Amino acid sequence: MEVVIRPDHADLGRLAGEVVARLVGERPRAVLGVATGSSPRPVYADLVARVRAGSLDLSGVSTFSLDEYVGLPEGHPSSYRAEIRRELTDLAGIPPAQVHSPHGDAEDLPAAAAAYESLIAQSGGVDVQLLGLGSDGHIAFNEPGSSLASRTRIKTLTRRTREDNARFFDGDADAVPTHCLTQGLATILQARHVVLLAMGEGKARAVAELVEGAVSARWPATVLQWHPHVSVLIDEAAASRLELAGYYREAWANKPDWQGL
Ligand code: GLP
Repeated sequence: MEVVIRPDHADLGRLAGEVVARLVGERPRAVLGVATGSSPRPVYADLVARVRAGSLDLSGVSTFSLDEYVGLPEGHPSSYRAEIRRELTDLAGIPPAQVHSPHGDAEDLPAAAAAYESLIAQSGGVDVQLLGLGSDGHIAFNEPGSSLASRTRIKTLTRRTREDNARFFDGDADAVPTHCLTQGLATILQARHVVLLAMGEGKARAVAELVEGAVSARWPATVLQWHPHVSVLIDEAAASRLELAGYYREAWANKPDWQGL
């Protein structure tokens, strides 16, 4: 796990954007795992800027979202499918047919979850997975207590997550759906490279657990300690509870030029 601490969110976005740009340069039909929420937005801004500047072509890329609320009708503006199109794929020229999300509006949710797992496998698997981090340590919507071996399935959201996400529902936590379909922790672990972004004091405890805590379903993101290639991109506030921040800064400052993230 590599921890990169940078004060400037645009810098964090550029670092992750470089990872995607390099991947797509080598594999124009790459598979990108995408996250919703505010944390990945600097990455999406960076990618859209590269596309607009003509230095990056994302038209062959497929995307797989991590999760989706249950029960929001197709096209609902707060659905994650709509958010990903709005924040990234429509702006970056990724055709809608290549943009995949779990079907949270399906009648048969277990079947929709299994179909989503199959679709990811058929695509060849996720090359780079962008992740945010919940203040309670969740990744995707794998709330505390999630099985470390979990696959895509229905989950109940915690009250805290619904309150955190109320800002996307006119500030009304009760309007946030109670359930979601989410990739499991074992699904996420299959991505070839995981790039997690976290900013702000509200994420500091979850970041400290993720990087330096014991692997436990209590803090689901800690499962990433089992992944061989994870980049944790954070700002100073999110880094504020790390015991070994000095070491991470030193490692970054002395990183060989040839070695990307
Ligand atoms: C939601 C999403 C997660 C995201 C988290 C953090 O719960 N399901 O994928 O990581 O929020 O969101 P933000 O980046 O807005 O803090």
